[in-house]
Amino acid sequence: MEEQKLEQEVISMPRIGDPAPEFTAVTTQGDINFPKDYAGEWVILFSHPADFTPVCTSEFMTFATMEEKFAKANCKLVGLSIDGLYSHIAWLRTIKEKIEYKGMKNVEVKFPLIEDISMNVAKKYGMIQPNEDSTKAVRAVFFIDPKGIIRTIIYYPLSLGRNFEELYRVVIALQAADEFGVATPADWQPGDDVIVSPAGSCGSAQERMEDSAIDCKDWFFCTKKLDKNLVLDKILKK
Ligand code: BEZ
Repeated sequence: MEEQKLEQEVISMPRIGDPAPEFTAVTTQGDINFPKDYAGEWVILFSHPADFTPVCTSEFMTFATMEEKFAKANCKLVGLSIDGLYSHIAWLRTIKEKIEYKGMKNVEVKFPLIEDISMNVAKKYGMIQPNEDSTKAVRAVFFIDPKGIIRTIIYYPLSLGRNFEELYRVVIALQAADEFGVATPADWQPGDDVIVSPAGSCGSAQERMEDSAIDCKDWFFCTKKLDKNLVLDKILKK
């Protein structure tokens, strides 16, 4: 019975559209109250399996190098692993002082890294996936909007380093969808055509087919141009 209860607790998984579960935590940048401290901003909450491991080190160097790019899109970064604060501090110091990788060196990780020895936060966010590893978080990525709502979730296993350009694309595409009331097709990048939301009636389906600004492959699959500068001007801070 006790075992069953533990299992249920471990696999609690927030879903897209849910409010981000609240927590307070100690981080390498001081205490945080999540998601309250990030109200009005996008935030990526991501987990990694362990400090002082190679895939995680390559990821942190890459993410830290891109932090300004995400900040321009009004998006903050917050990391987490089931390690203590002193391990985090020692690892981040080692990265800055000793590690050179793919042209990146002296990389300072300025975003907060949560200590989660108790696994409280990891369990709330379904970051522990026991059949992958029962004591290490998988590589989870939660995209949370300025109202504190989870908008995208991506999970990777321990062995697979994330593609950070894809994470950036997700942030831009979510904001473009909100700003312009459109959807974004496969592999979309700013400047590519966007999807017009599906016709809700036979009349609007017909109007759409006849609108010269809209390109319909069929009545249910219509795209339109969305200027790259318009998208970037709206989303990126000056
Ligand atoms: C790594 O980051 O290198 C790693 C961490 C845990 C398991 C496998 C790889």
